[in-house]
Amino acid sequence: MTFVVTDNCIKCKYTDCVEVCPVDCFYEGPNFLVIHPDECIDCALCEPECPAVAIFSEDEVPQGMDSFIKLNAELAEIWPNITEKKDPLPDAAEWDGQKNKLPHLER
Ligand code: SF4
Ligand code: F3S
Repeated sequence: MTFVVTDNCIKCKYTDCVEVCPVDCFYEGPNFLVIHPDECIDCALCEPECPAVAIFSEDEVPQGMDSFIKLNAELAEIWPNITEKKDPLPDAAEWDGQKNKLPHLER
């Protein structure tokens, strides 16, 4: 089992999640973070830390967001590791809660 970062992280990237992860399994792209599924130990600490409510257990990913399971696995292989919190993206508040942000994902 792993946890998965989903749609509402895109263009927000608050990064509160990385501070609590005991195994440092978050990876960072230009406007999104992902969790490496082979490294996540399923501790659930990150889920309540995300102000955007973007993190879910693999078996609780909301309907229509299944593709994020594969996407986390794929991008975690190519993006660099992130272990320290940084400032959110400048327009985070404006984008927080907007639906279907996948077309805005930058790789
Ligand atoms: Fe890290 Fe735990 Fe979140 Fe997995 S569930 S990403 S191990 S904080
Ligand atoms: Fe993204 Fe939430 Fe972490 S917005 S960077 S999953 S705190």
